[in-house]
Amino acid sequence: MAESMAGLKRSHRCTEVSEAHIGSEVTVMGWVQKSRNKGGIIFVDLRDRSGILQLIFEESDCGTESFEKAEKLRSEFVIAVTGIVEKRSGAANENLKTGNIEVRAKSLRILSESEVPPFPIEENSKTKEELRLKYRFLDLRRPDIQRNLAVRSRVATLTRAFLAEEGFLEIETPTLIKSTPEGARDYLVPSRVHPGSFYALPQSPQLFKQLLMCSGYDRYFQLARCYRDEDLRADRQPEFTQIDMELSFVDVDDVLEVNERLLQKLFKDICGYELSLPIPRMTWKEAMERYGSDKPDLRFGMEIHNVSETVKDCEFVVFQSALANGGSVRGINAEGQGAMPRKKIDALVEYAKGFGAKGLAYLAIQPDGSFKSSFAKFMKEEELAALATAMDAKAGDLLLFAADKDKVVFDVLGNLRLELARQLDLLKKDDFKFLWVTEFPLLEYSEEEGRYMAMHHPFTMPMEEDWPLIDSNPGAVRAKAYDIVLNGVEMGGGSVRIHQSDIQSKMFEVLGFTPEKAQEQFGFLLNAFKYGVPPHAGLAYGMDRMVMLMVGADSIRDVIAFPKIKDASCLMTEAPAPVDEKQLKELGIAISETENQE
Ligand code: AMO
Ligand code: AMP
Repeated sequence: MAESMAGLKRSHRCTEVSEAHIGSEVTVMGWVQKSRNKGGIIFVDLRDRSGILQLIFEESDCGTESFEKAEKLRSEFVIAVTGIVEKRSGAANENLKTGNIEVRAKSLRILSESEVPPFPIEENSKTKEELRLKYRFLDLRRPDIQRNLAVRSRVATLTRAFLAEEGFLEIETPTLIKSTPEGARDYLVPSRVHPGSFYALPQSPQLFKQLLMCSGYDRYFQLARCYRDEDLRADRQPEFTQIDMELSFVDVDDVLEVNERLLQKLFKDICGYELSLPIPRMTWKEAMERYGSDKPDLRFGMEIHNVSETVKDCEFVVFQSALANGGSVRGINAEGQGAMPRKKIDALVEYAKGFGAKGLAYLAIQPDGSFKSSFAKFMKEEELAALATAMDAKAGDLLLFAADKDKVVFDVLGNLRLELARQLDLLKKDDFKFLWVTEFPLLEYSEEEGRYMAMHHPFTMPMEEDWPLIDSNPGAVRAKAYDIVLNGVEMGGGSVRIHQSDIQSKMFEVLGFTPEKAQEQFGFLLNAFKYGVPPHAGLAYGMDRMVMLMVGADSIRDVIAFPKIKDASCLMTEAPAPVDEKQLKELGIAISETENQE
């Protein structure tokens, strides 16, 4: 039976008790991690969010009633214990902060009993994630998750303090908003008062923060909940949190500067990492050419080399046809991997095919300098030697080449580079390599839509020198957009915004909006722009991703208290779920029969 805690007050969290308290009385409360009855003596590990403290029960100290209760203790019972701190009678436990003390219990109350939990509450749990997420309230008791959430809380606190100091105002923007196309799919919320009409949940506070700039708020920030109905991955959730900001009367450098200092502060205080400033910058084009990615992982080299020039006269059809089709031939050098078994190379070829490669040509340089290659028979010896030289290769290296359109080549080699780094264990979690990627293309051609789409969003400012190309070669126009990349993860992104209505109108035209459609979708922003709009720019971090990188987690699910799984459902609450007929009726909604419906 559950006892009350009347008359008791917790004096310390478990690991706040220390050698300094030896001889004094403390009252601690928490969960039983484990209990061992050694006949006459019962040892209990008590856990709270600070950690573990050993309790020791002997009938002569705590009396018969408490001792009998102690005999009943099982994992996850919630108890309150008053006792005297003493030096540990047995050997000290080096793994515990409280490893050289224990509390000799004088009294015990069982505040709540527990059924046997479906999995043990322990660090680095081997339990399947599915089961853990179903019982997330238990999973959240695990020390590693508790540490992650504590880091998350610290990120929020430090960010607020830093930005407030820098003159930013924290302002909330609505989460029931108007649906705007572009970007990911919206989550919609039906309106009861306006049947047939819907709110959307915001994908980001983008338009509202721009309006706040129009309203003169100058420097805004918000820890904003964002919602995107898109395919989920390890670093994507349908709802997530941004550290979102916007600044007026600034250009790219101003935004990056204040953010570099924010990152320096966060990574110093939380990870003890000294980030030296400025953070290096690389244009999008350079990132693609050197790393095959717009979010390069700079923890290792293995850069991509363009060997199109070197192979332009060879007779290997694969290379020739790629070049003839306006593509390129590029390669990476997996240094020291020349002896990689054929089976492993074949697996890499298959991996490359997963990214659209038609094949992967390899050239292994043997210890004696001779070549082993999948395409040697199509090349002269001196052509192979020239390739090796162009790739800075030496004996014992393995060269891997892709020949195709640039986009495919970059994607294939960019991903292959990461796969090799994983296989060769080159990705150290406590190494932080930051990078600004700048000068993104303004537009991206969508084959699916048959038109250009905004690469960032439709409010991103084009680079002045490229703007004259907007009609003749829209794909070549670069934007004043930037991403902050950490260890190959896009941690945040932003841009300078368009504040001139003529450029904004042109942008909508290029994106295929008629003036009427633009007015219908974004009229409130375009109206605001008629009444005096300051030049402005901003940025948003994925806060979940930031914390994931800080704690070295493999997924953002490990840094979110109640995350969703791949199909965007919550295993614990079973959301989403059907609703009552009555609720639907009120909303004027009828569910049509679909194939998937039970
Ligand atoms: P963007 O769409 O690049 O920019 O988003 C900013 C950052 O948010 C994070 N992020 C996500 N994190 C978890 N789950 C998701 N589904 C998800 N989608 C995005 C990423 C990303 O870098 N309004 C602009 C910012 C601006 O221009 O100021 C925006 O939302 O870390
Ligand atoms: P094949 O003549 O088709 O046997 O190809 C010879 C080698 O070239 C094999 O190792 C293929 O994997 C490789 N290969 C085929 N297509 C490409 C490509 N587009 N880029 C790079 N290598 C390729």
